[in-house]
Amino acid sequence: MHDRSAIATALAARIAAAHRVLVLSGAGMSAESGIATFRGGDHGLWARFDPQALATPEAWRADAPLVWGWYRWRMAGVRDAQPHAGHRAIAAMASRAEIAVVTQNVDDLHERAGSVDVVHLHGELFALRCDRCDMRAGEPPPRVDAAATERETPPACVCGGRVRPGVVWFGESLPEAAWRRAVAHAGSSDVVLVVGTSGLVQPAASLPGLARRAGAFVVEINPQPGFRADEVDLHWRDTAAHALPELAAALDAQLAEASG
Ligand code: APR
Repeated sequence: MHDRSAIATALAARIAAAHRVLVLSGAGMSAESGIATFRGGDHGLWARFDPQALATPEAWRADAPLVWGWYRWRMAGVRDAQPHAGHRAIAAMASRAEIAVVTQNVDDLHERAGSVDVVHLHGELFALRCDRCDMRAGEPPPRVDAAATERETPPACVCGGRVRPGVVWFGESLPEAAWRRAVAHAGSSDVVLVVGTSGLVQPAASLPGLARRAGAFVVEINPQPGFRADEVDLHWRDTAAHALPELAAALDAQLAEASG
């Protein structure tokens, strides 16, 4: 069953009958907004930059201006990006079904598309905070046309610490409250849409299996599936910006028909 509309119709029927739906998203959810994924071939972020040199506490201690400059480049990219029809479809479906979003992404595209119940497992790019006292900090004025590896001294905090991005670096723990909410959603959802993740990074990658064991119908939306066939109920080999609007339209049609 690889016909987009047939898949959308069958899945919409499940969502229409569901009490709770969960969207688990990864970098592929933002790809069609022009934000590079991490492992997407030679244009992926980790193909072009070394995560150990940029996304670890050790890298921050060794060369904070390089790390800060790179995240400022990523922030500018997100500020220039727009949510796509897939982000908007998730927000639209949430007015028809109870839909929660748990994302590995640190961008704010789900929120800018209108999603309100968004759990960020790996933190948030714009949640700037001091690396010593944790005080929240405002975003500095955008840099124009700065190169990804152009160093920039991170702002100083009044306590003498330095302002860092609010993301979870490799080797750091996930925010406890976010993880608890993600597990609660996974354990209580009837349908789970796993969108745009390679399923390589734990513990986020364990959530679809947890949901499935708790009885959820798990669908992966990804051109190149990241999960094994025995880990999901359905692979929808499509992109986020194509599949999700089709799903939202099918859900609308079924709810309109049901209401006569
Ligand atoms: N629509 C849906 N899926 C897509 C699209 C698209 N348009 N484009 C790419 N994909 C899929 C790819 O096939 C791949 O499976 O998105 C996935 C992206 O995988 P990764 O780049 O590994 O991103 P992700 O799974 O989110 O990485 C998890 O790793 O580097 C860390 O903290 C970082 O949160 C990130 C985590």
